[in-house]
Amino acid sequence: MLSLRSRITTVVVTVAAVFILLAAGGLAFMYSGAYDVSASSRDNPIVAKLLHGTYEASMHRRAGSDVAPGDLLSLENIRSGARMYDATCAVCHGAPDRPLSPIGQGIQPAAPALLSASRRNKPALMFWTIKHGVNMTAMPSFGKTQSDQAIWQVAAFIYAERGISKDKYDQLVHGRAETGNTSLSLHGPASEADKQ
Ligand code: HEC
Repeated sequence: MLSLRSRITTVVVTVAAVFILLAAGGLAFMYSGAYDVSASSRDNPIVAKLLHGTYEASMHRRAGSDVAPGDLLSLENIRSGARMYDATCAVCHGAPDRPLSPIGQGIQPAAPALLSASRRNKPALMFWTIKHGVNMTAMPSFGKTQSDQAIWQVAAFIYAERGISKDKYDQLVHGRAETGNTSLSLHGPASEADKQ
């Protein structure tokens, strides 16, 4: 019969051997080139599920400590957010009735269509993702270059304007800053915003 001491030694050696084998197997897999990293094919569904689930859990755990401005859904904020969206986000996330850019078509995982009517786009959650980005995807961290105010504005836009029509989108993006006067600039020559 084995002594307690030699039993413990056997367990420790076995566990260590398993870890060494796993690490060696992992390295062998990595350097073999067997895993296809190309963005031209879809992610393996298991990998995609693991990565997306990790993202969702991380966002839910971290988002919510930033406080939205009281006038979050003001027309001024939504308008500024629309301009930023068009200039910075539409390339990956798309705009109504417009073909997706070559960048948006080429990234893997693809960016979600944030303006589709079926989205929820809760501002506090979206603010966190826009500010911090999503590692290992094409989603950049805009907190590095944009103020919190600008990020809340674009979060307000994607929340308030889910399912937006092409006309309203164009009006918000290119319209004049004053309310009630937006239709004038819809098909007009250059609006105030275009001149900037
Ligand atoms: C270069 C491409 C790219 C650009 C530019 C980009 N995004 Fe993204 N975005 C992505 C990708 C890809 C994802 C999906 C990440 C994932 O699968 O976890 C994403 C995810 C998001 C999400 C999370 C959606 C969700 O369901 O949780 C939000 C919100 C978002 N982006 C907002 C923006 C905003 C606002 C801008 C512009 C200020 C922007 N993105 C610019 C690629 C981009």
